[in-house]
Amino acid sequence: ADEPLVLGIETSCDETGVGIVRGTTLLADAVASSVDDHARFGGVVPEIASRAHLEAMVPTIERALKEAGIAASDLDGIAVTAGPGLAGALLVGVSAAKAYAYALGKPLYGVNHLASHICVDQLEHGPLPEPTMALLVSGGHSSLLLAPDITADVRPLGSTIDDAAGEAFDKVARVLGLGFPGGPVIDRYAREGDPEAIRFPRGLTGPRDAPFDFSFSGLKTAVARWVEARRRAGEPVPVADVAASFQEAVTDVLTRKAVRACQEQGVDHLMIGGGVAANSRLRAMAQERCDAAGIVLRVPRPKLCTDNGAMVAALGAEMVARNRPASGLDLPADSSLPV
Ligand code: KG4
Ligand code: ZN
Repeated sequence: ADEPLVLGIETSCDETGVGIVRGTTLLADAVASSVDDHARFGGVVPEIASRAHLEAMVPTIERALKEAGIAASDLDGIAVTAGPGLAGALLVGVSAAKAYAYALGKPLYGVNHLASHICVDQLEHGPLPEPTMALLVSGGHSSLLLAPDITADVRPLGSTIDDAAGEAFDKVARVLGLGFPGGPVIDRYAREGDPEAIRFPRGLTGPRDAPFDFSFSGLKTAVARWVEARRRAGEPVPVADVAASFQEAVTDVLTRKAVRACQEQGVDHLMIGGGVAANSRLRAMAQERCDAAGIVLRVPRPKLCTDNGAMVAALGAEMVARNRPASGLDLPADSSLPV
């Protein structure tokens, strides 16, 4: 049988993403980002994101169709992120998906953003073994998820109780005066720094703490205090050492908890997704610790880790392949959609 040809639309945050896949094969991955429009505010501004999605939506869909070399009439379905995310931003994608599905007479599949972040790895490494453990770390979420069935059963084991991991990178970058988004810049500076230079706190790693929850706001505050003390004393701030030491604290906690979750649940595959999965130290440390624990690590290439439409198409194709029911044209955009 032919593998399903699906177009996926992602607009949960600041990227307008449209991807096209055939089964687990990536055919197109078009992304228009409004990240530069938000930079001077130091974070994503919902109203600006919504308007940017509206302007970019149709051109990005057309670009993806052209890139894939297919006609929209060949599609087996249209998938779209139904949540979680920014309400107004989600609404643009959901409305566009409905319009295309209705006009083309194709089934519509509303999918969960977090499940898509996991499923995208099929485009990189082939079918996901089930159950899979997933560590999703981005600017908006930081969760450990157990996925016995990526299309219908994804269970949260724990998540951040305050800041998301990416948010911590962004805030620390701001303290250091490095700009937004902070992750890539900190990653770069950290390569020149000493990760042991400063011992920053590892949140929620005590024996009585929730084993799979995360907390990064204490770490962020500790970094800010350390930097302020230096400045007050009139001493130079060793930016590379601060970046490396902060990054080490984040990746230590993330990888330690992810490996422990695999061991406790008897799962031998770990996937890491979300924008922070692009972090070079997180990838290296996760690889070391998974190797030591006999766990197979799967991390998609950075472009598939950040928000994109291909991940939505990947999950949509999986839903078609497994005969999951399509959504109605009354599909709501749900900003707090649970997995
Ligand atoms: O998944 P994503 O594109 O969007 C959502 O937040 O959903 O993730 C963006 C986040 C930002 O906080 C950014 O600073 C972080 O991912 N990020 C990184 C790196 N590249 C992006 N964090 C650490 N290291 C990186 N190399
Ligand atoms: Zn995301």
